[in-house]
Amino acid sequence: MASATYRICTLPGDGIGPEIIAEAKKVLSALGEKHDVEFVCEDHLIGGAAIDATEAAGGTVSALPSETLEAARAADAVLLAAVGGPKWTDTRVGAVRPEQGLLAIRKELGLYLNLRPVRMFDALVGASTLRPEVLSGVDLIIVRELTGGLYFGGHERMMGVEGAGVGGARGECARDILEYSEYEVDRVVRWAFDAARRRRGVVHSVDKANVLDTSRMWREVAHNIAAEYPDVTLEDMYVDNAAMQLIANPAQFDVLVTENTFGDILSDEASMLTGSLGMLASASLGDGTALYEPSHGSAPDIAGQGIANPIAQILSVELMLRYSFGMDDAADELAAAVTRVLDEGWRTVDIADEGTPAERVLGTAAMGDRIVEALG
Ligand code: IPM
Ligand code: MG
Repeated sequence: MASATYRICTLPGDGIGPEIIAEAKKVLSALGEKHDVEFVCEDHLIGGAAIDATEAAGGTVSALPSETLEAARAADAVLLAAVGGPKWTDTRVGAVRPEQGLLAIRKELGLYLNLRPVRMFDALVGASTLRPEVLSGVDLIIVRELTGGLYFGGHERMMGVEGAGVGGARGECARDILEYSEYEVDRVVRWAFDAARRRRGVVHSVDKANVLDTSRMWREVAHNIAAEYPDVTLEDMYVDNAAMQLIANPAQFDVLVTENTFGDILSDEASMLTGSLGMLASASLGDGTALYEPSHGSAPDIAGQGIANPIAQILSVELMLRYSFGMDDAADELAAAVTRVLDEGWRTVDIADEGTPAERVLGTAAMGDRIVEALG
């Protein structure tokens, strides 16, 4: 009998999703054995896979079937791989898209905060497009607001009336509303300050306060919170400048907190510091069951080839161990195992460079096996 049992709702999704989540499961079972914990994984449908299955069943077509949502609610944690693909890119009004499943599960579970740690692995410094001296000392986390802003503000397409539409144009118009409440900003920024307190004590609050009212309010909230944290330094930064600074001087950042859309864009950018989007894990936290997923997408171009990098998915397990199960020792072991494998020179194709010998380039499953082996 294991000392604890954790039920994980696993959502393979689309594209490379099933391939990478299989490696995360290997890691979970190895760690479970080692730490006398039972991880029970149960697969459910989301994204394009759910659209196809619900369509075939003849019921309401959905990217997040109610069984999946119920299973997620009942689980101790959710581990998601990725959603989306060329098969489901219908832009017509009313079309069901895979990404809706992802947005809906975030919203339904009340996961208002997305944490994306950008951690450098020394072994991968050569895999980045940036010079090693720029990357030295980079260790930052992006705290992204996840259930508000443009993503959830209401989307609309309508026919313009001459003189009244955007730019006075006739023809079709479209609108996406950017709205935030003080409450939504406060809980995310506060979390960032708490995190900074446990780290190097610097928060960069990223906004576009020179243009947007939502940003001006965001900035006021951030400053009010800063007054309660005299030990933490707050720096305001415009998002365009932040995009530039992430490349020019990424080591200046400790905790970077920002709204949903800015966070989406900046986190893809920041992932390239680590050499590949295939390295960036994320945790979505809030009211309901926490959800862990790689920051990258479903990479349909390489799906089914067994070459996808499973590390972001595996590092999402590390975050799950820390934030959902309080298993910091196991999380540290996992991080160390990934570091060891990379130090030994093992690579998936996305993080290999000219200097990588061909025999050190591994497929998805072999990389998972190496990491399990390194766990001992
Ligand atoms: C991410 C992704 C999603 C997002 C997409 C797939 C809807 O890019 O998690 O960053 O924009 O949030
Ligand atoms: Mg994104």
